[in-house]
Amino acid sequence: MNISKRINKIPPYLFFEISKKIKKAQSEGRDIVDFGIGDPDIPTPDFIINSLIDESKNPVNHRYPDSDGMPALRENIADWYLRRFKVNLDPSTEVISLIGAKEGVGHAAFAFLDPGDIALVPDPHYPVYSRGTWFAGAECHFMPLKEENKFLPKFSEIPNEVIKKSKVMWLNYPNNPTGAVAGADFYKQAIEFGMKNNIIILHDAAYSEITFDGYKAPSIMEFPNAKEISIEFHSLSKAYNMTGWRVGSVVGNKDLISALTTIKSNIDSGIPQAIQHMAISALNSDNSVISQNIEIYKTRRDRLISALESFGLKVTAPKAGLYLWIKVPAGHDSSSFTEFLLDKLDIVVTPGNGFGDSGEGYFRISLTTPDKDIEKAIERLKSVNLNN
Ligand SMILES: Cc1ncc(COP(=O)(O)O)c(C=O)c1O
Repeated sequence: MNISKRINKIPPYLFFEISKKIKKAQSEGRDIVDFGIGDPDIPTPDFIINSLIDESKNPVNHRYPDSDGMPALRENIADWYLRRFKVNLDPSTEVISLIGAKEGVGHAAFAFLDPGDIALVPDPHYPVYSRGTWFAGAECHFMPLKEENKFLPKFSEIPNEVIKKSKVMWLNYPNNPTGAVAGADFYKQAIEFGMKNNIIILHDAAYSEITFDGYKAPSIMEFPNAKEISIEFHSLSKAYNMTGWRVGSVVGNKDLISALTTIKSNIDSGIPQAIQHMAISALNSDNSVISQNIEIYKTRRDRLISALESFGLKVTAPKAGLYLWIKVPAGHDSSSFTEFLLDKLDIVVTPGNGFGDSGEGYFRISLTTPDKDIEKAIERLKSVNLNN
């Protein structure tokens, strides 16, 4: 029996591997504190669950959904964009729903890339950008995100021969895993670069609603010509504690949306309609769910930063997102430090190099860990010296 060459080329999915390690340690009776995946520990709010309960009883919702989402959901997404970003979208041509942003991000490669094409991919990055590219038979050119450049890629460093073969560029702000944010100048520069070189910009804004200290994240769609060249991915997962329900969206250039819809309609049958109604309830709610979440994550962020700094680590407070991105202590690399934490303290963090070579020397802590586990981890960290 032979599986495809394509499968053999793909490294194991980072969080699937971490989850296997956690399950193994737990089966050995170890009490693991998990700072790995960014999966909110806060339950989905009751009013959103109630929509599911009500709508699941309506036989209309028992049949196949459309791949691109119910018109009502697409209209609600467009209304939300108008309220939140002052961006006008046509719900019938410029908006579709996704079975979580991950699904659309993965399928985008099939819509926009052919074998031999290049995708410009930030490094470190959410792994699906590179995996999707490889599944489609295309190649990645990695754009290093360096601390000295505020974790923004430098377009001037991309060689001309790479630019000529590039069809898409992935961008993701607020950024996973670095926690960086991007300003208006950067988005304008990216759109200009895309227009000049005929490179589609795929902007992943999955963390746009989780922001701290008065910061508000923009949408790329706010900037001139964005709709000419780009689409933007969104997710209800992190903002509304809905990772388990799988709801996301993508908006922007109608030809690009139409190409992605062609892929989707041939492969999936969309989000179950009762769940689409959950999304409509979430999008129509006031901002209190998001504000409460932000308060919880901010408290955790600050608690962890002050503890980690007291152990000699230097941590920059992110303005957005769910992660702390921290340099490993001297004498360690990403893998040795994450193994040390797991073996000695039963603490799981994500090694920076799991997000790409430029993540080497860092580790990522997710803020989606319950407070009592955070305190437990801090107590455990007191028992070791991280700086020798
Ligand atoms: C940058 C980024 N984009 C997309 C996703 C996927 O979101 P969803 O749950 O909507 O599939 C994640 C999940 O962690 C992410 O970090």
